[in-house]
Amino acid sequence: MLEKKNVLITGASSGLGRALAKKFAKNGANLVLCARRSERLYDLQDELIKANPHIKIHIVIADVSDKNSSKNLVEQCMSQFSQLDVFVANAGQGMWSRFRDISDPDKINELMQVNFMGVVYGLFYSLPYLRKSSGSFIAISSIQGLIPVAYHAGYVASKYAINGLIDTLRLEEPKIHFLLALPSWIANTELREHALVGVGRSAVQVKKQHKKNVISALDCAEKIIRALTNRKKEVFIPKIYRYVPILRDVFGSTFDQLVMNKIQGQIK
Ligand SMILES: NC(=O)c1ccc[n+]([C@@H]2O[C@H](COP(=O)([O-])OP(=O)(O)OC[C@H]3O[C@@H](n4cnc5c(N)ncnc54)[C@H](OP(=O)(O)O)[C@@H]3O)[C@@H](O)[C@H]2O)c1
Repeated sequence: MLEKKNVLITGASSGLGRALAKKFAKNGANLVLCARRSERLYDLQDELIKANPHIKIHIVIADVSDKNSSKNLVEQCMSQFSQLDVFVANAGQGMWSRFRDISDPDKINELMQVNFMGVVYGLFYSLPYLRKSSGSFIAISSIQGLIPVAYHAGYVASKYAINGLIDTLRLEEPKIHFLLALPSWIANTELREHALVGVGRSAVQVKKQHKKNVISALDCAEKIIRALTNRKKEVFIPKIYRYVPILRDVFGSTFDQLVMNKIQGQIK
């Protein structure tokens, strides 16, 4: 079903984006891979072409938080492939800090610029082409786009914003298939390493790795692709997390405390 489809992935240089690129390539899709670190992308291109010699891959070095860069990304995709079937808005930055410990409120603006405006720009410029192909727009949100999570205020806000944007666009653009991906923690990505952190002695220090085994980026990518091919509106990863919003409605502050305990377990 994905063979010879043209798929654009933002944030393909590491973590989930890289895993998605591998899975789409295995399914025979042509790829436009975007991120800021060029070497990572060219290495990935070599690896993917070696394993899947029949696909085409085009690399675009782009900053999704920049409007012109995002516009150029879509233009390059169209001049390369003439058609866009799937846009995966994956690029993102994490946050591990109390709100009061960030050095400047504009740090939240910078985070929103990547996590939210990056999706807005990608969607805006790809929309005419996705309408034409009746294609899919996948937004990589998070379970944190549905519940409050301490030390993640800006990140949570950016993911809530994505969910609102995508749920509304579904109503306006019935020709396009919108998929919201709502993963919980994913193992071995660089999200923590590059997260917005606080300053000062009271700033929280997050552990480098998750406490226990969490889903791998490749398994997460597999579930997203399955949801795409089944034209699902949303995918919770793991699936059981679909009960999270309901549990919060029912158990209120007890549920919030459980999440808080889980988060505290990640602090050094
Ligand atoms: N890890 C988790 O537990 C988890 C859970 C739920 C949801 N998610 C979501 O999954 C997505 C991928 O994150 P990840 O966990 O795979 O983290 P990651 O390993 O840090 O990957 C982030 C990717 O985004 C790219 N990126 C960051 N800022 C960018 C910018 N301004 N312009 C272009 N590309 C940019 C990075 O590439 P360059 O630095 O090379 O530009 C990198 O390829 C994010 O949206 C994240 O919120 C992650």
